[in-house]
Amino acid sequence: MQLIKVENPEQGAERVFEIIREELENGRLNVLGLATGSTMIPVYKMWTDSDLDFSNVTSFNLDEYVGIAADSPNSYAYFMKDHLFNKKKFKETNIPDGMAADLDAECRAYEELLVKHPLDIQLLGVGENGHIAFNEPGTSFESVTHVAHLTESTLGVNSQYFENDEKIPETALTMGIMSIMRAKKLILLAFGEKKRDAIAKLLEGEVTLEWPITNLLKHEDFIVITDLEL
Ligand code: GLP
Repeated sequence: MQLIKVENPEQGAERVFEIIREELENGRLNVLGLATGSTMIPVYKMWTDSDLDFSNVTSFNLDEYVGIAADSPNSYAYFMKDHLFNKKKFKETNIPDGMAADLDAECRAYEELLVKHPLDIQLLGVGENGHIAFNEPGTSFESVTHVAHLTESTLGVNSQYFENDEKIPETALTMGIMSIMRAKKLILLAFGEKKRDAIAKLLEGEVTLEWPITNLLKHEDFIVITDLEL
């Protein structure tokens, strides 16, 4: 693991920008794994304000709520359009379809696509309880794309962002831990005190099911960017 300490989220976004620009220029970035959440907003803002060219890049998002339509402001599909896709052209973008009639079939199809298009880089945030994408504590390290049941902690934190009286779903589709671990490079961003417990667990160095983030320690190219004094 490589730890990069920054002063604030904007500086963190700059570090991500440098990595992405270099990989794009070297032709090493063809498939990019994207994340949602407030952590990613300054990252995507820098990209959309820049001349970075993603027109040859295929993207895959980590996760999506079940039962929230893509045109609802609460969906991750909407978040991605709003913050990135409406302003930057990609070759192709992929997000699991939480409205699919057969969710298990949707998960299998998404995983198959991921296997066909190996991720060069996966961007990650982290939940306060250490969840990665929607892989909550206790999720198997062997997991692939699946229907996840959200914990009380995640429902509480994420419901704050829900608009228009829409209720937060208790389930979501998410890449599994193994789907994420297959990416060639992982870049995790964690800003602010609310992420201290998760980052502290990571630094303890022990891989445990109770803190999904710790599984990433097994990845050989894993970068953590944080503004936390540790
Ligand atoms: C959600 C997403 C995660 C994300 C987390 C953190 O739960 N499923 O992928 O890492 O939120 O969000 P934020 O960046 O807003 O702290």
